[in-house]
Amino acid sequence: MTNKERCIAVIGTGRIGRAWAIVFARAGFRVNLHDADRAMLDGARPSIEASAADLARFGLLDETPGELAERVTAHARLEDAVNGVQLVQENIAEVVEIKRAMFEALDRLAPPDAILASSTSGLPASTFTEALPGRHRCLVAHPVNPPSLVPLVELCGAPWTSSETLHNARKLYEAAGQKPVTVAREISGFLLNRLQGALLDEALSLFEQGYASAADLDTVMRDGLGLRWAFMGPFETIDLNAPGGVADYAARYGGTYRSIAQTRVPFDWPPATVAKLDAERRTLLPREQIEARSGWRDRRLMALLAHRRRDDADMKAESDASSSRANSSEPALRPDTGDRHD
Ligand SMILES: NC(=O)c1ccc[n+]([C@@H]2O[C@H](COP(=O)([O-])OP(=O)(O)OC[C@H]3O[C@@H](n4cnc5c(N)ncnc54)[C@H](O)[C@@H]3O)[C@@H](O)[C@H]2O)c1
Repeated sequence: MTNKERCIAVIGTGRIGRAWAIVFARAGFRVNLHDADRAMLDGARPSIEASAADLARFGLLDETPGELAERVTAHARLEDAVNGVQLVQENIAEVVEIKRAMFEALDRLAPPDAILASSTSGLPASTFTEALPGRHRCLVAHPVNPPSLVPLVELCGAPWTSSETLHNARKLYEAAGQKPVTVAREISGFLLNRLQGALLDEALSLFEQGYASAADLDTVMRDGLGLRWAFMGPFETIDLNAPGGVADYAARYGGTYRSIAQTRVPFDWPPATVAKLDAERRTLLPREQIEARSGWRDRRLMALLAHRRRDDADMKAESDASSSRANSSEPALRPDTGDRHD
């Protein structure tokens, strides 16, 4: 089945639901929207078209914003929104009772072979799907805000989610242009927020103990670790930071990390530290400028994505050229050292 023949229901049209609608419509799927709040539902399509126009400005859309929005339809009734869909992406309030009631309705109303996915940031699927006849087809598909700009999606089933559901969900998100990862079993925070939480705990702890200002700690990330982390993960990073790879790295630096770990102070987010951080952040960015700065962040993300898109195309062209050289008897113009200077 091609994307054009597929239909996705996006339930809840706040920040995350609207961004998911862009993801699926951009990939060619038809998208049905539903929200209990009529004003939110009515505002969704214009807002989706406006966000698509931003993507177009950065060369991240292969059609006009109007053409993308044409594939998005708002439905006042839940049963109409889920009619004939392959996947339901739920994005309503983060309250377990509300999710449970919604999944009961979705399991009753959606086609029996549709996948039912929740965008929940913190509720394991087992807390709101246990009693459902169709619980095998339910899972969490946790996006990063906004999924239209950050492609990671964390797939995490309940103990009763079928492997077929996880497999098919992974294929669908890949077809939508996202980067799914599978969390093997339920854990609070899934993967991304556990990694982010560990980093935040350490940054806040260093800040609390007065080792550095908040601005300098942000610089460590933005102009240090973050540059590499924009295109490779921490494991690949250390694998390349010692001539013999990760085992060599561990032999050289494992002791340093072990001794750092011994000095790490458990951090429990004391209000006084948060207030001190807030005071420094508000001198750097007054509260009334947060929204404008968020818009700036999204434009930076778009520019980065546009760069990555070009870079991926260049890498593919380079790899196609080197395999066609390998298949012919022509010698390469220059020796391929395997180095990539990006
Ligand atoms: N905001 C984030 O950064 C983020 C990131 C990842 C995941 N999430 C998750 O995505 C979900 C949505 O978050 P959001 O930030 O988009 O929230 P939001 O408040 O912007 O939007 C929620 C929407 O759901 C609608 N809604 C609430 N109850 C409903 C119901 N019973 N039926 C139909 N519509 C209903 C509301 O009217 C609202 O439009 C949450 O589960 C959240 O944890 C949020």
